[in-house]
Amino acid sequence: MTTERESRELTQVGAGTIMGDLMRRYWLPAAKSSELERDGAPMRLMLLGEKLIAFRDSAGRVGVMDHRCPHRCASLFLGRNEEGGIRCIYHGWKYDVEGNCLDMPSVTPQQDFKHKVKAKAYRVVERAGLVWVYMGAERVAPPLPGFDVLQMPEDEIGVSLIQRDCNYLQALEGEIDTSHFGFLHAGHVDADEVPEDGQVYHTVTNRTPEYHVADTLWGTQYGAYRPAGPGQTYWRFASFAFPFWTLAPNGEFASHMHARAWVPIDDSHTMFCYLWWKRGMSSITMPTPAYKDGSPIGGAGRGSKFLPNTTDWLGRWRLAANEGNDWTLDREAQRNNTIYSGIEGIHLQDQAITESMGPVTDHTFEHLAPSDQMITRTRRRLLMAARALREKGVAPPGAEDPDLFRSVRSGYFVSDHQGSWQEVYAKQLAAAVHPSSAPLRAAE
Ligand code: FES
Ligand SMILES: [Fe+2]
Repeated sequence: MTTERESRELTQVGAGTIMGDLMRRYWLPAAKSSELERDGAPMRLMLLGEKLIAFRDSAGRVGVMDHRCPHRCASLFLGRNEEGGIRCIYHGWKYDVEGNCLDMPSVTPQQDFKHKVKAKAYRVVERAGLVWVYMGAERVAPPLPGFDVLQMPEDEIGVSLIQRDCNYLQALEGEIDTSHFGFLHAGHVDADEVPEDGQVYHTVTNRTPEYHVADTLWGTQYGAYRPAGPGQTYWRFASFAFPFWTLAPNGEFASHMHARAWVPIDDSHTMFCYLWWKRGMSSITMPTPAYKDGSPIGGAGRGSKFLPNTTDWLGRWRLAANEGNDWTLDREAQRNNTIYSGIEGIHLQDQAITESMGPVTDHTFEHLAPSDQMITRTRRRLLMAARALREKGVAPPGAEDPDLFRSVRSGYFVSDHQGSWQEVYAKQLAAAVHPSSAPLRAAE
């Protein structure tokens, strides 16, 4: 059970909170590179509860900084992005992407003190079509996380962003809650209706899978298993990786390079950022699941309908289906069991469920079951790391050694290996596809 104090420590991400401090030790995927045009309009961007603006200067460099002008706190969102920097429209002070004050035209040359003024700017890199922001105070920022997918050529990496209106933790936990799949997503599917080699067969054959859970170098991991014929086991491996990443089992393990971030916008909004290898076998690249007769399984549709982006702090990458329209739940489909949930689309089903818990789940109201041990363990892992950082200055996992994320992979496979579950994982990982430029380092 999670106490009120633990709940607060886990879910609050503002500056000075223990989880906020932990998150500030990692790079955050924050926006698509395509959202920022050279000398284009500045964009409101909220991260970890801080109101920022992002802009791309005349040379193509991206700046991410506190939206308040250091002079009298007018919002630089209103500013003019021109000639190598952003100029506040109140008194004309101008800043470059690093926050240096370049010009102070409202004071006489004798009184000019621009060299003493610095806007609060964060470090930025671009990779995989994304703008990444480092909000830590460390002098040297770490390299980006070493996920395999980030080592692939840029044009082979798919990226999608979707805002979710709830705290990052409950959004993230939806991904490592393995026992919901056979209900929320596939409760209406009978095993004898789907092909034995299909994506959902094993899930609907046994809706109460057994699974192992353990702490790992990068966070936590589970391996769910079901018998799959004589001497064979069907495995689904998934992971949580610090500080907000999940690697879901929604693809064939061997080529399933992907990573899914649940980046806190503030305590009650999250930006889901999904990176996947376009040539891997995942739920994005494989055909939608179908019944034996070839007809599509209800509710398993892909693709999301978005509202147009606005300039609001919370205006980017919102789905058209939301609490205000009951996530477009179709009671008739629910009643006649063509879609167990009545909601079309796997992503939307997860979105609806986690948003329905409220902006921040009241954890003291929960009754966690033995089948929730991955969730319990992940909460403890996060909490212990955040407290160790606060109390003893211990760097959290992967913050200073992002290479360790290269040993994380998730997905499903059938194996006849009879060793421990960790041995099964290590064997499958060694045989999997990896970025050729970077040989796999064995996990310690
Ligand atoms: S408030 Fe920005 S220049 Fe004065
Ligand atoms: Fe789900």
